Amino acid sequence: MLCCRAALLILLPAIALAQDPAMNIVAGKSQFQQTCGFCHGPDARGASGPDLIRSTLVSHDVDGNLIGEVVRSGRPEKGMPAFQLSDTDIRNIAQFLHAEASNAASVARRIPSEYPLEKLLVGNAAEGKAYFASHCASCHSPGGDLAHVATKYKPFDLQTRIAFPSGAKPIVTVKDKAGKTWEGEQVYADEFLVSLREKDRSIHTFQRSAAQITIKDPLAAHEQLMRGYSDKNLHDLFAYLETFK
Ligand code: HEC
Ligand code: HEC
Repeated sequence: MLCCRAALLILLPAIALAQDPAMNIVAGKSQFQQTCGFCHGPDARGASGPDLIRSTLVSHDVDGNLIGEVVRSGRPEKGMPAFQLSDTDIRNIAQFLHAEASNAASVARRIPSEYPLEKLLVGNAAEGKAYFASHCASCHSPGGDLAHVATKYKPFDLQTRIAFPSGAKPIVTVKDKAGKTWEGEQVYADEFLVSLREKDRSIHTFQRSAAQITIKDPLAAHEQLMRGYSDKNLHDLFAYLETFK
C-alpha cells in the first residue's frame, strides 16, 4: 500500500500540471520560440514575418482553429513554410498567442494614445522614483543608460517603451566539446540549431547536441515586470522618467 500511495503522490502533481492553462502557455511559448520565433520574433511581435499579437486572424482564432490552418498549410508563396505540428502543440501555441494579446491589450488600455502630455502626466514623480529604485535600478540609471530618455522619445512612445522596450537581442554563449567558447547576439534558434553573430559580425551556427549553449534574453525581466504594473505604477514611473531630459 505504501508503495502505491507514494506513486500516486508523484503522479497527481503531474496530472495537475498537464491541465494547468499556465503550463500550456509556457509550453506554447517555448514551442513558438523554437519553431516560429525566427520569423515572427520570440515575443510574436514581428520580425521578417508579421506581428501576431496584433493580427486579426489570431484574434478571431478559437483554440487554434485558424492558427492551425495557417501553420499546417503554410503560405509558401509569401515565405511561411508549412509545419506538421500536433493538435496539442498548436493549441498550446494558440494559448500563448492569446495570452500575449490579452496582456498587450490590458497594458495598451492603460496607455491612451492621443493624450497631450499634461493628461499623461497624472502620476506622482516622487513615487515613481521610489518604484524605480526598487524595480528598475538594478539595470538602469537616470544618469546612465536612461539619461535624456525623455528627449529621445515623444511622451506617448516613452510610455510604450516602459512597458514594451524593443531592440535588445538575446545573447548566446556557446562552449563546444573542445572547450572553445563563443558569444554573440542570437540570429537564429530552434530545437536543433542556434546561430549567433559575433562582435566582428561573423555568424556561427552550432548544433545544440554538440555544444553547451546558454541563451539570455535581456528583456525577460521586462516581460515579468509588465505583468506586475498597476495603472498607478505606470503613471508614476512615466512622470518620473519624463524628468530625464
Ligand atoms: C520562415 C518564416 C516563418 C516561420 C518559421 C513561421 N512563419 Fe508564420 N508567417 C510568415 C510570413 C512571412 C507570414 C505572412 C504571410 C502572408 O503575408 O500572408 C506568416 C503568417 C502567419 C500567420 C497569419 C497571420 C495573419 O494575420 O494573417 C500566422 C497565424 C502564423 N504565421 C503563425 C505561425 C506559427 C504559429 C509559426 C510556427 C509554428 C510560424 N508562423 C512560423 C513567416 C513564417
Ligand atoms: C533585469 C534588467 C531590467 C530591469 C529590472 C528593467 N529593465 Fe528596462 N530595459 C532592460 C533592457 C535590457 C532594455 C533594452 C535596452 C536596449 O534596447 O538596448 C531595457 C529598456 C528599457 C527602456 C527603453 C530604453 C530605450 O532607450 O529605448 C525603458 C524606458 C525601460 N527599460 C524602463 C524600465 C523601467 C521603468 C523599469 C522598472 C519598472 C525597467 N526598465 C526595469 C532591462 C531591464
